[in-house]
Amino acid sequence: MSNYHIKNFEEYFQVYRKSVRNPASFWEEVAEEHFTWQKRWDNVLSWDFTKPEIKWFEGAKLNITENCIDRHLWSKGDKTAILFEPNDPNEPAEKITYRELHTRVCKFANVLKSRGIKKGDRVCIYLPMIPELAVSVLACARIGAVHSVVFAGFSSTALSTRIVDCDAKMVLTSDGSYRGSKTIDLKGIVDEALEDCPGVESVLVAKRIDSEINMKEGRDEWLQPLLDEADSECEIEIMDAEDPLFILYTSGSTGMPKGMLHTTAGYMVYTAYTFKNVFQYREDDIYWCTADIGWITGHSYIVYGPLANGATTVMFEGVPSYPDFGRFWEIVEKHKINQFYTAPTAVRALAKHGTELVEKYDLSSLKVLGSVGEPINEEAWHWYNDNVGKKKCPIVDTWWQTETGGIMITPIPFSTPTKPTYATLPFIGIQPALMDENGEEIHGNQVDGRLCIKHPWPSMARTIWGNHQRYKDTYFSAYENKYFTGDGALRDEVGYYRITGRVDDVIIVSGHNLGTAPIEDAINEHNAVAESAIVGFPHDVKGNALCGYITLKDTGESRDHTNVSKEVNQLITDRIGPIAKLDKIYFVSGLPKTRSGKIMRRILRKISAHEYNQLGDTSTLLDPTVVDEIKELVKADA
Ligand code: PRX
Repeated sequence: MSNYHIKNFEEYFQVYRKSVRNPASFWEEVAEEHFTWQKRWDNVLSWDFTKPEIKWFEGAKLNITENCIDRHLWSKGDKTAILFEPNDPNEPAEKITYRELHTRVCKFANVLKSRGIKKGDRVCIYLPMIPELAVSVLACARIGAVHSVVFAGFSSTALSTRIVDCDAKMVLTSDGSYRGSKTIDLKGIVDEALEDCPGVESVLVAKRIDSEINMKEGRDEWLQPLLDEADSECEIEIMDAEDPLFILYTSGSTGMPKGMLHTTAGYMVYTAYTFKNVFQYREDDIYWCTADIGWITGHSYIVYGPLANGATTVMFEGVPSYPDFGRFWEIVEKHKINQFYTAPTAVRALAKHGTELVEKYDLSSLKVLGSVGEPINEEAWHWYNDNVGKKKCPIVDTWWQTETGGIMITPIPFSTPTKPTYATLPFIGIQPALMDENGEEIHGNQVDGRLCIKHPWPSMARTIWGNHQRYKDTYFSAYENKYFTGDGALRDEVGYYRITGRVDDVIIVSGHNLGTAPIEDAINEHNAVAESAIVGFPHDVKGNALCGYITLKDTGESRDHTNVSKEVNQLITDRIGPIAKLDKIYFVSGLPKTRSGKIMRRILRKISAHEYNQLGDTSTLLDPTVVDEIKELVKADA
């Protein structure tokens, strides 16, 4: 059991040094001691960042669900694996034990098989945060099907793009979903999406809200009757270490979303090991991550990481504001939550409502607080620390990405002294580097640069589904022999890292990655729009919000700007989803462009943040006068 649970700062340094001195032997030891293998690996690691090709535990055979479920049955079959807390506080919570989870996953896996799903087939999952979501993810993994979960807040167009890209044969969904006091017609969205997805053969529908929906003959079936009939035992499919486990889409700065492909063994080892250490999970703890399983945080730290450790993981269907802004704290008290992991945007939204609702509940069970998805600003950090953690719970500000599969830079609670707004130190095995504009590594402390990783870690994505060249270009071409994260970071005087934000055209809104290009494409579909540019600007709850600068076509007639604004936001909602709506829209006569025609988003970013003195030299622009016009418009609106 060496090295599995890091207990103090000194031990962190010891283990860290060992892990980077010889990464292969370090991870081999972790893999050997803490997981069940059908066959041992022949080679721990082979890698070549120029191709790029990364293989961990090659030759090993395993099934991740055997590790997440079966092996716990003997020792903790009656322990709660998943604790489901519904949207409506009056609906009772559901405790699914490891034994019940085993049965449900097996039944679901048998249903998938009976509908023709085999190893390697892609299954798109578009479900709300109900137990069927976790169960179906595990059922796919059990039979070797590749799951691709699409967050159930995405629009039908976004859904169909993803289904077509990964060529999914089956879609799993529900009649609808609850979101606070509202319901959402998920099946209607799926029906619309599937008009453009000829490859989808079957749709299985879970019943959640009991709404009237359309069932297409020969394609759609209700899930429950099939589950009722299914056998409750399903043999695991024996997978190779590098067999695909899932595809999860994330926005790029340009074009199509990227289907990040994660494989089996390395992902399992790393998510399990990080979960145990970053949250200092102990046997009887109740752990809650508020993310949606539609994002990587949910994959790694609601499903796979916790279950691989035999933990109790909470799944919450609702929203932090329903029935009031005390809901999170009510749940913490009710289930005596020990580790609570959320996003800064949620902390800021709750902080806005004062401390009365936090003080109303007993939060004394809490031991560790986590933050993920975007930089946590100082004010939010202190609010979280003072009012939720009562200054007794370390805050782990965890930096990582869909691409990295697991947490990369983070404090280890009760070991690493925390510092507000700093993700602090690299996790075990992670070798960060800061790079300058000339491609040179910046050594020493009190420096800033672009954040890269120098050596492979087990849970890194192996490719972009169907586009290995793009994988290489995006992550391995900017700096030689390094993985480029797309983030900027600074290293302080003691070597702590602080993530300063994206250095590309990705904007993080409420913790969600949004690329500017697809939003601009959606806006440009409007028949009155000539051109548009999107930038992010600071927002007190969302972290960043979106601001659009739009030029209209010169048709001789005048257009009502309020209407165009509404229509533009509707287009964005239809094409991407409501998360990508613009908070501000300015109609301008031209966009700041270089002489070669490139839109200078940097200038728009500065103006949107009211940093008028930091625009730099604008005299080389194609038409410098538009900058003054835009400045005046934004100032007048402030
Ligand atoms: O910019 C960083 C930001 O979120 C990006 C990754 O987004 P996504 O793939 O959706 O994964 C989010 C959940 C892991 C990063 O490139 N980010 C994530 N965590 C932090 C962060 N920025 C600052 N601090 C963090 N703790």
